[in-house]
Amino acid sequence: MAFSHIGVLVFLSSCMVAYGGNFYQDFDLTWGGNKAKIFNRGQLLSLSLDRESGSGFQSKREYLFGRIDMQLKLVAGNSAGTVTAYYLSSQGPTHDEIDFEFLGNVTGQPYILHTNVYAQGKGGREQQFYLWFDPTKNFHTYSMAWTRDHIIFLVDNTPIRQFKNAESLGVPYPKNQPMRIYSSLWNADDWATRGGLVKTDWTQAPFTAYYRNFNAQTATVGKLSNGAWQKQELDAYSRRRLRWVQKNFMIYNYCTDYKRFPQGFPPECRL
Ligand SMILES: *[C@@H]1O[C@H](CO)[C@@H](O)[C@H](O)[C@H]1NC(C)=O
Repeated sequence: MAFSHIGVLVFLSSCMVAYGGNFYQDFDLTWGGNKAKIFNRGQLLSLSLDRESGSGFQSKREYLFGRIDMQLKLVAGNSAGTVTAYYLSSQGPTHDEIDFEFLGNVTGQPYILHTNVYAQGKGGREQQFYLWFDPTKNFHTYSMAWTRDHIIFLVDNTPIRQFKNAESLGVPYPKNQPMRIYSSLWNADDWATRGGLVKTDWTQAPFTAYYRNFNAQTATVGKLSNGAWQKQELDAYSRRRLRWVQKNFMIYNYCTDYKRFPQGFPPECRL
């Protein structure tokens, strides 16, 4: 297991520079006043949500390609109605975005991990998953590996989704707009839980999610121009893991939603 993604990792690290994370240095608390907190000399961050408001933070820096890792421990117990959003986004009406969203659930029922990709303001590329562990018991690592060729979403180093650059098919791809890292914990009981069926149980508030071990590996400017950066691919083991997740844990894929696309699927679905 320890060797699971060495192929990918070695390749990625060979053309990237790593920064060890410190929340004070790397992030600003941007929403929710003292409901967002940094502890342990910058090593731990928490967001909480109560009736009054949620909370959030954003990275000080912007990133244009790279691999972003963060460990999250999600709201435990009855988290139905809460959403923990963790994403990369640029600014403006034609923004790009790479999303993880964790939709809470009643005690003992599974979270949904919702993913999406926006390019030049257009999203609608949802894939949703159950996880193969309880994401509230321990910290787990959620990563985005973003190159010119693809965006790979990873959970504990297992790829769960690959969004390929389909510009050759006329599909816009995020590659020009630097993005910041954002996270927020908010109440979405109007849609998150089966279309608003289950309401947030405010007697359980405050709801709290924890973050640690942020790491960003980004291309150095010089290396960006060389071709190596563009040839990273999943190795055979990673492709098997990806298929395992997609077969056993994927619960929604826009690329197989016939009702939604009666006239045919978006072009990138062919890849
Ligand atoms: C909550 O649990 C139910 C029952 O297992 C499941 O159908 C649903 O997908 C889960 N997630 C959310 C966000 O409702």
